[in-house]
Amino acid sequence: MRMIIDTDAGVDDAHALMMALARPELNILAITTLTGNIGVEHVNQNVFTVLDVMERDVPVYQGANQPLVKPWQWETEAFHGTDGLGDWPDRPSTSRHLEPEHGVQTLIRLANAYPGEITLVALGPLTNVALAVRLDPTFPTKIKQLVFMGGTIAARGNTRIPSAEFNIYCDPEAAHIVLHTFPQSTMLSWETTLQHPFPLPWYDALIAIPGAHAAFLQATNAKMMQFVAGDYLLPDPLAMAAAIQPDLVIESQMRVMSVELAGTLTRGQTIIDYTKNNLRKPNIRVIQRMNLEGVYALYQQMLGANLAD
Ligand code: RIB
Ligand code: CA
Repeated sequence: MRMIIDTDAGVDDAHALMMALARPELNILAITTLTGNIGVEHVNQNVFTVLDVMERDVPVYQGANQPLVKPWQWETEAFHGTDGLGDWPDRPSTSRHLEPEHGVQTLIRLANAYPGEITLVALGPLTNVALAVRLDPTFPTKIKQLVFMGGTIAARGNTRIPSAEFNIYCDPEAAHIVLHTFPQSTMLSWETTLQHPFPLPWYDALIAIPGAHAAFLQATNAKMMQFVAGDYLLPDPLAMAAAIQPDLVIESQMRVMSVELAGTLTRGQTIIDYTKNNLRKPNIRVIQRMNLEGVYALYQQMLGANLAD
């Protein structure tokens, strides 16, 4: 499977990256970065650190440093820390560097090099994906599948706009472009995230696995876990698991989805049209249920557990 990962790493992005980097069958062509959880310069460094921890070499390309319209505001320090990776105290330095190409150009170049072959996993705002569409309108037809973490199904959000999820809230215009140009994409929503936590005993067993990967999971999560009441939430890793192993998706529905751009109380809310008078074709596969034990096995693998145990 040829894959590109677009990320605003972030703590949960880092764990999703680990999950993909631990899979030998994945040919990760590129990691493209953008501003979201934190400014893109920090995101670059955070991706480099994950590559160091996983001892993998994947080219990294910087993408958008701002949303399309409304200027970005930093709002996630409490969860992702001042460096976007949980302010991990013993964080080693990295000697990795960016590739010179802009991340949006990378998306377009690779889609044209491998038409119909690439799984694009978007773990942050959809700014890079939207810019790729605007620069090359054929881009959506050349991507095999787009899987993204973002949006709400029933208006239960996690931002200052109560009904908006962070990735869409960060750049609603980008989400609008993507929802209206990709014939179909797969969405892992905030509600689905809330319905699929790892119970703390599961999480405790993971961080007890010997080795640097589990130590990294624990160290980077320490700040986030202060805010989590009793469970470990894994938004981006769930989206990544759905892309890596589609049979982990137990239930999903095809829906017609739009995003609110102007609402005083609702800007950034994703809206599903359940009525029958909408003439649009379903444009989104909404994941409802996942095989959480299967996702857990992906964590065990990325942390180097001997699955034969
Ligand atoms: O709402 C959760 C999403 O916002 C995740 O992708 C997290 O990394 C943040 O970007
Ligand atoms: Ca993210």
